[in-house]
Amino acid sequence: MPTSKKGPKSKLPHPDLERVLVSEAAIKSRLKLLGREISDAYGDQEITVIAIINGAVFFSADLLRHITSPVRLDCIRVSSYRNSTSPVSEPRILDTLLLDLENRHVLLIDDILDTGRTLSVVIAEMRKRKPASVKTCVLLDKKVRRDVDLEADFVGFTIPDRFVVGYGLDFAERYRNISCIGVLKPDLQNPPEWA
Ligand code: IMP
Ligand code: MG
Repeated sequence: MPTSKKGPKSKLPHPDLERVLVSEAAIKSRLKLLGREISDAYGDQEITVIAIINGAVFFSADLLRHITSPVRLDCIRVSSYRNSTSPVSEPRILDTLLLDLENRHVLLIDDILDTGRTLSVVIAEMRKRKPASVKTCVLLDKKVRRDVDLEADFVGFTIPDRFVVGYGLDFAERYRNISCIGVLKPDLQNPPEWA
């Protein structure tokens, strides 16, 4: 039998990844189901989607195309991570919203729920605007890292406590455009030269 000339099946899509945690195909098929779940929950009610950028850009763009309920979209910018893999300060809201939220059904979308601090700060801010409801949707959930009492209403994947990048998730604003979600090599997680 001739030996195959093909490379190993598990070739990594980026050299800085230690391994792939969620493949592009797995993301695609999960998003279809998640879109259906959200559409079933809201039915014909209009959803005011607030995407937390930059992380939720890729996830929101793909997920929203699987939601059949009417949608209004706005974005909010929150900062906390800077150039390290653990939060350096309390999350800060850096932008203001353009849409009114009073009596609206708000769905907050973020890339990952980790300690829960980002989403709780944003939820508290949204509630001040008197929405009819506030729900949350995250692509990834690192359950073991939580330090506030918060669970998302819609979750793509529950993952272990590893620092991941790709499909919108970054380290120092890099790697967002990798099409899968992978674990960043540990020796690349705190390079001081990455300002
Ligand atoms: P939390 O406030 O600790 O829940 O963190 C949420 C935010 O931290 C997310 O919006 C991400 O920007 C960032 N984050 C948490 N874990 C990771 C990770 O593994 N990779 C990249 N960003 C992360
Ligand atoms: Mg980030």
